[in-house]
Amino acid sequence: MATADDAVNQAVTDKDDGVRRRDFIYIATGAFAGVGAVAAIWPFVDQMNPSADVLALASVEVDVAPIAVGQGIKVSWRGKPVFIRHLTEREIAEAQAVDVASLRDPATFDERTQEGHRQYLIQIGVCTHLGCIPMGVADGEPKGDYDGYFCPCHGSHYDSAGRIRKGPAPKNLVLPDYEFTSKTNVRIG
Ligand code: FES
Repeated sequence: MATADDAVNQAVTDKDDGVRRRDFIYIATGAFAGVGAVAAIWPFVDQMNPSADVLALASVEVDVAPIAVGQGIKVSWRGKPVFIRHLTEREIAEAQAVDVASLRDPATFDERTQEGHRQYLIQIGVCTHLGCIPMGVADGEPKGDYDGYFCPCHGSHYDSAGRIRKGPAPKNLVLPDYEFTSKTNVRIG
């Protein structure tokens, strides 16, 4: 089965990441504390020329408490942008009301969020068409025709749960492996 990395590594481009990076809000608190912890051990790991298995263990801890309802942030995880959005009740209701059978890449809202933390949508911010970074997190403003994310490169629209609804992208935005270690702390990777 293809992993999240497979799907993203196929698509991501450094050029696009640079162009779109400013579209997003960064919340340093928590997110950077976690990144810092990882960064501290990184020189040692790097010197040892680690295997892919070791690299796969790299993770980022993010405190999501500062993310207000309707706001999103982007954090970097293993060189990829990860969108973390605190969904509004309306976005959740919209996502739950969708006829899953009508979707190009069928997935329920519950399958794309975790029990007890349904208000947080965590996904890799790379379009599954050719790897641009979709708009939709900046300023908490949903983009596109489905109150979610819009990739301007070729016009892919994703809904509020990150599911592809229109345009050339074949798949939903990819979900990274993550785990909530407390009510407001999540470890990605
Ligand atoms: S890369 Fe997003 S629509 Fe083509």
